[in-house]
Amino acid sequence: MRSDLRIDHAARLRGRISPLHKHFARSEPILLYTERFTTMQKKYPIGILGATGMVGQRFIQLLEHHPWFEVTWLAASDRSSGKPYGEAAKWRLDTPLPERIARMTVSPADPDGAPKIIFAALDAGIAREMEPRFAEAGCAVVSNSSAYRMAPSVPLVIPEINAEHLHLIEEQPTRKTTGGYMVTNPNCSTIGLVMALKPIEERFGIEQILVTTMQAISGAGYPGVPSMDILGNVIPYIGSEEEKMEAETLKLLGRLEGHAVTPLKARISAHCNRVAVEDGHTESVSIKLARPATHDEILAAWAEFKPLAGQALPTAPEQPVEWAPQSDRPQPRLDRNRGRGMGVTVGRLRPCNVLDWKFTVLSHNTIRGAAGAAILNAELLASLGKLEPAAETASRA
Ligand SMILES: NC(=O)c1ccc[n+]([C@@H]2O[C@H](COP(=O)([O-])OP(=O)(O)OC[C@H]3O[C@@H](n4cnc5c(N)ncnc54)[C@H](OP(=O)(O)O)[C@@H]3O)[C@@H](O)[C@H]2O)c1
Repeated sequence: MRSDLRIDHAARLRGRISPLHKHFARSEPILLYTERFTTMQKKYPIGILGATGMVGQRFIQLLEHHPWFEVTWLAASDRSSGKPYGEAAKWRLDTPLPERIARMTVSPADPDGAPKIIFAALDAGIAREMEPRFAEAGCAVVSNSSAYRMAPSVPLVIPEINAEHLHLIEEQPTRKTTGGYMVTNPNCSTIGLVMALKPIEERFGIEQILVTTMQAISGAGYPGVPSMDILGNVIPYIGSEEEKMEAETLKLLGRLEGHAVTPLKARISAHCNRVAVEDGHTESVSIKLARPATHDEILAAWAEFKPLAGQALPTAPEQPVEWAPQSDRPQPRLDRNRGRGMGVTVGRLRPCNVLDWKFTVLSHNTIRGAAGAAILNAELLASLGKLEPAAETASRA
């Protein structure tokens, strides 16, 4: 990480937090925060664009009791705006819809009246038009959509992997005028792959990657794939998914050089399949290394990969890449909630007869692969002072 991006949480947050630990002990089962984290006296107000969808609902679930962020604004399409959230959204998650949120009125998707920090969970076509409008209005837009992930001045970030790419924010024209900007997290199938590859890549180099996914139906949003198409079936096609996975992986593992990211110079081929699993993307991976590595050296690279250790980001898992030693793991139903849904599980590491090594990786697609990824990005931005009021930032530029 570049030295000016090192995080001094204590300095950044001093005076803004108070030890209200006990409040968090009442969290619902998979919610992310425990008494380990301190609550800011004045939390950042947060808006959610696309609040009624699969990812929007995860944002609401994960942000309930968040020590730094508080949901104050919800927006969705014209179908939902003006209605109480509890009526507009068909709540699909297995923790109760918080009453405060159920009573909130869904706003039109317009920056007027929206808070300055926006978590966006919109389809790419809508996001392409809408996210820049919020950035122009001075918002920090932390997006899940693919619309701008590959734009040269938009950071595509996983905090454990490439936090330094956040420097790209300063290249965005709106940063200099209104202070607003866009930051993205990767596709839900990319994130598990990259988390497993990074510890290996930084020690041994990676030249070739073959990946075959088995992706959960929740990855297609709600109502998603019709039950008649997916029950008892596998669909060997997810539109644009393979291209996204290939391009995003190389950008994430690339280097920030000057004002742009140079993608990792590796060959990658992805096969993406939809399977009848509710949550959790499983991937079979083969890799060719630049330098030889033993089985134990790869296990050590995964075990020792803790780039956010000590930085106290509330959503960061303690063990980002966790090894499952059993010969039939990881499995989505058994392993997707490791690290409160933010951990990535690897297993079945063995020699590959075509490339060098092969293994299986699993990640929760709507937590680590979507809402949790964006929340962790926002926590990193907060730690770096990049969520301060946008007008302040613009007047300094
Ligand atoms: N599901 C995943 O695992 C996953 C993972 C990573 C990334 N993503 C990405 O995250 C984004 C959201 O995915 P999702 O699965 O949550 O989709 P979804 O369930 O279909 O939800 C879409 C959301 O967008 C809103 N919306 C639709 N048209 C709109 C408009 N014209 N203006 C404002 N809001 C509008 C919908 O509101 P209404 O309810 O009012 O229609 C709904 O809140 C997509 O870009 C997706 O690719 C999803």
